[in-house]
Amino acid sequence: MEARLGIIGAGAMAEALIAGILSCGLLEPENVYVINRKNNERLKFLKETYGVNTTRQYSDIFSYCDNIIIAVKPKDMAELLASIREYVDEKHIIISVVAGISTSYIESRLEKKVRVVRAMPNTSCQVKASATAIAKGSYADEHSMGLARELFSSVGKVVVVEEKALDAVTGLSGSGPAYVYLMLEALTEAGISAGLGREISEQLAIQTVFGAAKMALESGEAPVHLRRKVTSPGGTTMEGIKTLQQMGFTASIVEAVRNAAERSKQLLIENCK
Ligand SMILES: NC(=O)c1ccc[n+]([C@@H]2O[C@H](COP(=O)([O-])OP(=O)(O)OC[C@H]3O[C@@H](n4cnc5c(N)ncnc54)[C@H](OP(=O)(O)O)[C@@H]3O)[C@@H](O)[C@H]2O)c1
Repeated sequence: MEARLGIIGAGAMAEALIAGILSCGLLEPENVYVINRKNNERLKFLKETYGVNTTRQYSDIFSYCDNIIIAVKPKDMAELLASIREYVDEKHIIISVVAGISTSYIESRLEKKVRVVRAMPNTSCQVKASATAIAKGSYADEHSMGLARELFSSVGKVVVVEEKALDAVTGLSGSGPAYVYLMLEALTEAGISAGLGREISEQLAIQTVFGAAKMALESGEAPVHLRRKVTSPGGTTMEGIKTLQQMGFTASIVEAVRNAAERSKQLLIENCK
């Protein structure tokens, strides 16, 4: 990638993206500029760890970089957009990873026909295994979508969706790592209550989830087929699956994703007044 990249926000998501983008060689550290609000220690850490440039001036970011990622919390977005409005112009591409903030809100607050792309990655960015969905704003073009795809491909898999699907994406893959961690906790506790030691139980649980996901990815077979293949009538797996379904396993996951997606919609209402 030739152009320079500005990152507004220096938190967990910004760091995961910086680590991914640099480690795959998409950009050199000297072409990345990071800004936050007040935490000097954090900027110092990012500069020392990754060799990126840091600044406290929005004018630096917008004059040095055409491509900008916004990675602040939803509650800070209104103030940020008001602060950067004067520096943004039509040459800039704005990629926002901020949950629940629409492209139309960003466009209207910037008061310009600026190219805005929204992205919903997840924390697995940190190990380059994010599931990221991207959606275009009103003025985003092929170039800006291509840029977002390239950036997020450096930290995992990317799909393109209509913006209205992003609440569902947030409920599924945005929050999804936490559901899987909960499943790992539950499997570990279950192994312990069935007689295993904690360490062995946790290792087996983690490797089992990893192996099943790898199998689903690499075999190309639908999960339903893979499940049927390993569930022989009258066998042990059949017994476990029957218990899970009797206790509402699928229904509870459907409800969890639905409620998380609803919460994403509320965030828009709460933060975009
Ligand atoms: N973590 C995830 O899995 C995940 C997944 C998808 C999307 N996201 C989204 O990513 C965004 C960032 O999440 P995070 O976990 O990285 O948050 P975080 O760790 O709290 O970091 C937020 C950063 O924003 C900076 N900031 C706030 N207001 C600012 C302003 N006006 N100008 C410049 N910088 C400003 C903060 O700087 P100071 O510390 O100096 O105040 C801080 O560096 C959120 O909107 C979240 O919805 C996160």
